[in-house]
Amino acid sequence: MDKIKVAVVGTGGIANHHMGVYSKIEDIQVIAVCDIFKDKAMNFAERWGVPKKNVFTNYKKMMEMDEIQTVSVCTFNQAHRGPTVAALEAGKHVLCEKPMAAKLSDAVAMAKAAKASGKILHIAIHSRYQPHIVMARKIVDEGILGDVYYCESVGCRRRGVPGGTFIHKKTAGFGAIVDIGVYNMHDTLFTLNYPKPVTVSGYACDYISRNTPGLETMDVEEFGAAWVRFEDGSIMVFKISWAVHADSLGNSYYLGKKAGMTYGTIYADSVPKELEKLAESEGCTLKVEPRDNMVNIRIEGLKPVDVWDKQVREFIKAVREGGPSPIDPQKVLITNVIMDGISRSAQKGKEVNVQVPEI
Ligand SMILES: NC(=O)c1ccc[n+]([C@@H]2O[C@H](COP(=O)([O-])OP(=O)(O)OC[C@H]3O[C@@H](n4cnc5c(N)ncnc54)[C@H](O)[C@@H]3O)[C@@H](O)[C@H]2O)c1
Repeated sequence: MDKIKVAVVGTGGIANHHMGVYSKIEDIQVIAVCDIFKDKAMNFAERWGVPKKNVFTNYKKMMEMDEIQTVSVCTFNQAHRGPTVAALEAGKHVLCEKPMAAKLSDAVAMAKAAKASGKILHIAIHSRYQPHIVMARKIVDEGILGDVYYCESVGCRRRGVPGGTFIHKKTAGFGAIVDIGVYNMHDTLFTLNYPKPVTVSGYACDYISRNTPGLETMDVEEFGAAWVRFEDGSIMVFKISWAVHADSLGNSYYLGKKAGMTYGTIYADSVPKELEKLAESEGCTLKVEPRDNMVNIRIEGLKPVDVWDKQVREFIKAVREGGPSPIDPQKVLITNVIMDGISRSAQKGKEVNVQVPEI
């Protein structure tokens, strides 16, 4: 089998991680790299054994190499659109880092370019492969929770403001909301099979960071929250922080008409038969703890997964088999719709309407 020929755009922190994963997968060969900083790209090429003749500072020039079949887009958030669209238009498949984009308009352009090209655009939200997230989606699909009318999508760092390109609007667009928030928001949307949002009331602030030495130039939010109403009337509360005076903002959870769920635990009046069947088919066990006349059911024994390895292998499999994208840009676009709503709502100080664009 011929090796898949890969190029990488943006040779910063996460690009090294892509290379680490690629280097362990036998049928992948990285043949070209690009960064706006020539020295950085050259050092990167040397470290990973990429021929120096294939080091570029202009991604459009690199896309002229016919041999390139797939492109890892590892630029900062505000620079995802350019190389992604150029690669798709040049007939390459794309594995683009999360978040899909900083701006909704960029995400729309990327999804449209993927559709027009017929090539695969996979957005690297690897948390989607965590076993408890995969299981949560199956539990919802089996109807074990019944209709979900309310959920909370939560992530928290008490102190974990990154640095570099992550803390400036010019490069990152947003702060905690798009950086780590995209993981738990997408996990929730994926679990619920991507409900369509219709209104968002959002909040964002940076009270702790603005008084933290070393973060004087930061101009993105450290904390964000939102109340999101979906088309079917159900609600998602979203909370995320890089910095907060709290140990925790709570867990993500789902309230259904028949049962409730945190990742790994079901709360019900009795053990649902469908859950017993699902646990058996997934090879895991249910630990039932009585609570008055009700039960908490812990799902145990899910097999651990190397989410990075899984993500790249799923992407390469889709490339070899002709799709579809394992993490579909048209679905991930919903995270951008909500994030755009949070930004507009936070600026206006009131709820705003949002709409998922037709692609
Ligand atoms: N999946 C994960 O676990 C994870 C972790 C960290 C970062 N990320 C994501 O990866 C992306 C990059 O993060 P990072 O930490 O590597 O950032 P970084 O700032 O270290 O690297 C980005 C690189 O892109 C280059 N670049 C920018 N515009 C370019 C262009 N037009 N052409 C070529 N190169 C260009 C920059 O010069 C820089 O070297 C971000 O979107 C981030 O959210 C994902």
